[in-house]
Amino acid sequence: MDSPKMQQQIKELAKQKNALILAHNYQRDEIQDLADITGDSLALSIAAAETDKQIIVFCGVHFMAESAAILAPDKTVLLPNRAAGCPMADMVTPETLEEMRAAHPGVPVVAYVNTSAATKAHSDICCTSANAVKVVKSLPDNEVILVPDRNLGSYIDSQVDKKCYLWPGYCPVHDQLMVQQVLTCKQEHPQAVCLAHPECPPAILEHTNQILSTGGMLEFVRNSSQRQFIIATERGILCQLKKDNPDKEFFFPDYEFICRDMKLTSLEDLLTCLQTMEPQIKVPEEIRRSAFSSLQRMLEVPRD
Ligand code: 13P
Ligand code: SF4
Repeated sequence: MDSPKMQQQIKELAKQKNALILAHNYQRDEIQDLADITGDSLALSIAAAETDKQIIVFCGVHFMAESAAILAPDKTVLLPNRAAGCPMADMVTPETLEEMRAAHPGVPVVAYVNTSAATKAHSDICCTSANAVKVVKSLPDNEVILVPDRNLGSYIDSQVDKKCYLWPGYCPVHDQLMVQQVLTCKQEHPQAVCLAHPECPPAILEHTNQILSTGGMLEFVRNSSQRQFIIATERGILCQLKKDNPDKEFFFPDYEFICRDMKLTSLEDLLTCLQTMEPQIKVPEEIRRSAFSSLQRMLEVPRD
């Protein structure tokens, strides 16, 4: 079956089953094209929490579908390709986190949403790249434990007046970008505004104009009168950037910038998942209730 035919079939089946298709900004273009909602981790979590549709098809990675299942326990949450994970989310476990807690008694744990449900359940509050600084500032405590991303953690540390204890995790995709690659791109496009995701190493962030979530980048570019942008994040974001801004130009540093896991989900996976209602993502109720408190606490932090 060719792609347009398959896309049509997916749309019809989703309508028939009253399913909501969510796609992260890093998904393949053909998946983003047919999603009901595209967005960053925060926007998609909110969409999952607020939808009145009974079935949520989450085109993203495992922790994202798990967050939807935590926030919408009465819904059926599907992850079209079960193998789509996030290596960073696996870099902290409840057991290792409890060791860190024991070393800093009474200090609250802020878990990036790129964590498992079990880790969220052992945390006090969650954050995404879109609200991390606000979440940490909202806490009354003078000290915080930030897991699992050392790069996001170090960025938060630079923005708040609190003692931050960082975890040594990292995103294998963003962490490998090198300063020289950004500098070369800036030399080649001296007029371009440089936007970077906070998962990039601190040495990269020093050379950028704006540090934003993927949703923040899309909003910034839409509202900017500038015409050229250097984008330091996964290439999938180009799909929405081009759709929203056909007259603007985008450049990526000379680096592959592809998240293998985000590219796993295919149209075939999506079609099969709607036909079979598998694979479903379920979270044991005891873990879900605790993880829900951490996510809910995050969603209660005023957005602006
Ligand atoms: P955003 O929430 O900014 O979309 O980031 C998610 C992610 O996995 C970045 O690597
Ligand atoms: Fe995880 Fe990095 Fe992929 Fe985001 S880009 S899903 S943090 S591996």
